[in-house]
Amino acid sequence: LAGTVGIIGGTGPEGRGLAARFARAGREVIIGSRDAARGAEAAGEVASLSGGKASGGTNATAAAAEIVIIALPYSAQAETLAPLAGVLGARIVVSTVVPLSFKPGRVEIVPLAAGSAAEEMQALLPDARVAGAFQSLSAKHLIDLAHPVAGDVIVCSDDAEARQEVMALASLIEGVRAVDGGPLLNCRYVEGLTALQVSLNRIHKATTGIQIVGL
Ligand SMILES: NC(=O)c1ccc[n+]([C@@H]2O[C@H](COP(=O)([O-])OP(=O)(O)OC[C@H]3O[C@@H](n4cnc5c(N)ncnc54)[C@H](OP(=O)(O)O)[C@@H]3O)[C@@H](O)[C@H]2O)c1
Repeated sequence: LAGTVGIIGGTGPEGRGLAARFARAGREVIIGSRDAARGAEAAGEVASLSGGKASGGTNATAAAAEIVIIALPYSAQAETLAPLAGVLGARIVVSTVVPLSFKPGRVEIVPLAAGSAAEEMQALLPDARVAGAFQSLSAKHLIDLAHPVAGDVIVCSDDAEARQEVMALASLIEGVRAVDGGPLLNCRYVEGLTALQVSLNRIHKATTGIQIVGL
């Protein structure tokens, strides 16, 4: 499965959008779902949009790819990933997850004992090399393959090689600059920044990205 990118929870907008971008860039993607038929349906859409290679199956099928992205809602993270810890092994596993809570007039981060969804993922998958990335990229912009996705992707991991590989993956998305974000604990701040983006999107009726200046 060399060169493949698996996406667990890949049938949602964020998973489909990332899959379309990586397939367009020539990477083979495997879209995972609780329902293999739904995974296959999403893969068909991604292949026809991107002109690239995509297949679909269960989340366990996607977990066998070389690099595995997690595009689940936070509420599904623990129950979905705990049984896949063995298959995921020492793979690079990328969290796009943002634990948001929506209340009237406000968007907040759910406070987590681990500090962030990505750090909790590392605790659930102790052998995996967990990185956080892509939280700042809107699904709406990702799926719109006619336009580049402007903005930075901050990549955080405690494993230097995982950080480099995920930065290389992020750089495949036209318009994206990958930024080395240092250790996994910095995902707390990236996830928090995403909550701010969602609030700004509501206030300004916009779809925001982020860009760090001074680098
Ligand atoms: N949407 C965005 O613009 C965006 C941007 C940045 C980051 N994110 C983050 O990316 C993640 C995915 O976002 P999304 O909008 O694509 O999410 P979503 O559509 O709500 O969920 C993605 C997929 O997760 C699976 N899923 C849902 N509930 C589940 C459950 N209880 N157990 C197991 N699997 C379940 C579903 O796949 P199956 O039914 O096929 O199993 C679903 O298609 C989230 O954590 C979000 O915060 C989203």
